Amino acid sequence: MSGTALINNLIPTADVVKRAARIGAEIRNIKLSGELPHQTIAAINSVLLEHKVIFFRDQGHLDDAGQERFALRLGKLMPPMGPVTNGTTSVRKVDSTGAFYRADAWHTDLAFFDAYPKITMLRGVVIPAFGGDTVWSNTAAAYLDLPPQLQHLADELWAVHSNAFDSAVIARISEADKKYWDEVMTRTIYETEHPVVRVLPETGERALVLGNYVQHFVGIEKYDGQRLFDLFQSHVTAPENTVRWNWKEGDVAIWDNRATQHYGVNDYGEQRRVACRVTIEGEVPVSVHGQCSVTRVKATRQSPENVA
Ligand SMILES: [Fe+2]
Repeated sequence: MSGTALINNLIPTADVVKRAARIGAEIRNIKLSGELPHQTIAAINSVLLEHKVIFFRDQGHLDDAGQERFALRLGKLMPPMGPVTNGTTSVRKVDSTGAFYRADAWHTDLAFFDAYPKITMLRGVVIPAFGGDTVWSNTAAAYLDLPPQLQHLADELWAVHSNAFDSAVIARISEADKKYWDEVMTRTIYETEHPVVRVLPETGERALVLGNYVQHFVGIEKYDGQRLFDLFQSHVTAPENTVRWNWKEGDVAIWDNRATQHYGVNDYGEQRRVACRVTIEGEVPVSVHGQCSVTRVKATRQSPENVA
């Protein structure tokens, strides 16, 4: 039975409304909470696997702790990099007025870890009057878009993902963001080799693992590697594989971070935008040949106060 049918069986008033052909569905008339019955959680998970990102409007009753209690029903929570909000262990506030790099590049959350998150949940708290949409892409659909010869090539490739950003990115962010990036995001440098194609355990689908944490392809010279990256990534960012969400306060978006990339559109100027994020633990990716991702380097820099 599909997730949509499951939800309709459990909650006759609930509605699953597709938002684009290949990705994205809105689930209407469900009040999210940590107390939802097990079958409803199973149905939500099933709709998520099918549509890759699901949206819920009108969840203004959730506070940070309520969001965390609901997230706990979807899996084990990952402690975020950086501070958490009061009264929670895993909710991170993403505030455009604070020191935080705006996520205006296509990425998969925390893909520089081997077991990067399976699920990310974002709750809209302060939404600008215009702009600030998020766009998601279905990376399994992007793989299916490739002709068989390029699928075979992708199946064999591995890429190194790292949180060590290149100087071009660092050059265009604010001083406050640089400080944050330096002190929180890159205090420890991770380098992980992922297969360019991972197999999703529940469905057997193949999904591309790329995005802006990619540094280079294993065994391929940078110049050739950049062209290969652009070729595969262009299928990820093809508009037909994406869905765009215009946020309202109280919205919740939940995505399968293993089968998607997303992009926060930086078109809201100096307006404030606040969202609260929780991530759910994932499993180590497995290639089409059954090989697992490997973290190659984990180097921790000394904090400035410890430097002699
Ligand atoms: Fe993100």
